[in-house]
Amino acid sequence: MRTLIKHVLAATEPKETLQVKGWVRTRRDSKGFSFLELNDGSCLGNLQVIVDSGTPGSEQLPHFTTGASAIIEGSLVPSPAQGQKWEMRAKRIELMGAADTTYPLQKKGHTQEFLRTIAHLRPRSNMYGAVFRMRSKLAFAVHQFFQERDFVYVHTPIITASDCEGAGEMFRVTTLKGDIDEKPQGDFFGKPTFLTVSGQLEGETFACALSNIYTFGPTFRAENSNTARHAAEFWMIEPEMAFCDLQGNMDLAEEFVKAMAKYALEHCAEDLSLFAKFVDKGVLDRLKFVMERPFVRVPYTEAVELLTKSGRKFEFPVEYGHNLQSEHERFLTEEHFKSPVSVFNYPREIKPFYMRLNDDGKTVTAMDVLVPGIGEVIGGAQREERLDQLLDNMKSHKIGPEEYWWYTDLRRYGTVPHAGFGLGFERLIMFLTGVPNIRDVIPFARTPGSAEF
Ligand code: 4AD
Ligand code: MG
Repeated sequence: MRTLIKHVLAATEPKETLQVKGWVRTRRDSKGFSFLELNDGSCLGNLQVIVDSGTPGSEQLPHFTTGASAIIEGSLVPSPAQGQKWEMRAKRIELMGAADTTYPLQKKGHTQEFLRTIAHLRPRSNMYGAVFRMRSKLAFAVHQFFQERDFVYVHTPIITASDCEGAGEMFRVTTLKGDIDEKPQGDFFGKPTFLTVSGQLEGETFACALSNIYTFGPTFRAENSNTARHAAEFWMIEPEMAFCDLQGNMDLAEEFVKAMAKYALEHCAEDLSLFAKFVDKGVLDRLKFVMERPFVRVPYTEAVELLTKSGRKFEFPVEYGHNLQSEHERFLTEEHFKSPVSVFNYPREIKPFYMRLNDDGKTVTAMDVLVPGIGEVIGGAQREERLDQLLDNMKSHKIGPEEYWWYTDLRRYGTVPHAGFGLGFERLIMFLTGVPNIRDVIPFARTPGSAEF
């Protein structure tokens, strides 16, 4: 029976026999014995194995090179070496798959740019192992957070005919060849269809039945932004709450981000230690800070004033009525407030049709949560629940109500104030690990010009 190395390293007493399986990280030969460092991905740490010459299987030792896979049986004994509690004394070793010197992940440190070119092997490196273990843990934490609060998990469709964000940055889904715009009626679904940019609109239908719901799935954007924070395929978490307004929405968003920071600190300590050492020295302090301190809340108008008065030269000018650029967002959260910030009540012109119009007639109940190092991690809003107003919004956004008959029906039958938001899962992982590029927190990044693997 195989034991995962994570459990081996956490042992409380020696063990006469056990079996481990994994990949060789390094081998050092001494007179009469060899040291192997074995890793199976179950944790950051390696298991040190001592193989005496003459051990059954040791004639294969020369092939136990970096990257080779192996089975080792032996006993677990206290290690005299610094920094490790246990080591294994091999009784039998077996080579499974050799890896010759062309194996690209040799011991020396590699750049992240290089590792992206071997995305099929990079999970075997310390950093990517840590990223993807943590990503898995956080996905569980997301479900736990919402399930504990009685939110119902809804699987919204990936293929859709509606453009939720109205930004027109959608990938077309079609079985047609040639000019697909010429005869969309002849297409598979009988009309133009796309990969979804957000599950929100369908999510709203479920919130207006089950009260509190969330989605957690892949979303797609064909925006041609080659930045460290944009991917063409990313995962989004979208809670939606019936009988909820903007305040309640901001409360949930804040509680959610805090809970994720807390979960990471409590359940991912070993992997976080790697990020703190090699990627972002401030990561632990930042997570503690986020966990403990309330977020700042500031209306958009005030944020624009702060930015204009800051005296800072920005690449993009700050102007009321324009979206905040990443540099503006980061100034607010990193330099001005030095804290996560929720900016709310944006001008209606720059936000999608579904957001609720405020009494001032000029702003909508939008909210963005900005965090240091990333900028926007969450975007959300209270939704327009008044039918007339919604139809009016659609008109000014040049959206025909026919296509959205089912969405407007929610306002015809038992309409309720409701609100929700979307959190980009990769941006959350970047924030919690300090890894600065979105390409390094998703297994296989899809970005403009790149869909390898
Ligand atoms: O602000 P966005 O566009 O909001 C929506 O899609 C709403 N329908 C959500 C809702 O209210 N239910 O996107 C939400 C979040 C952003 O704050 C960002 O974290 C992430 O999704 N995001 C991206 N992440 C990676 N790559 C991209 N291209 C992203 N676009 C948005
Ligand atoms: Mg947004």
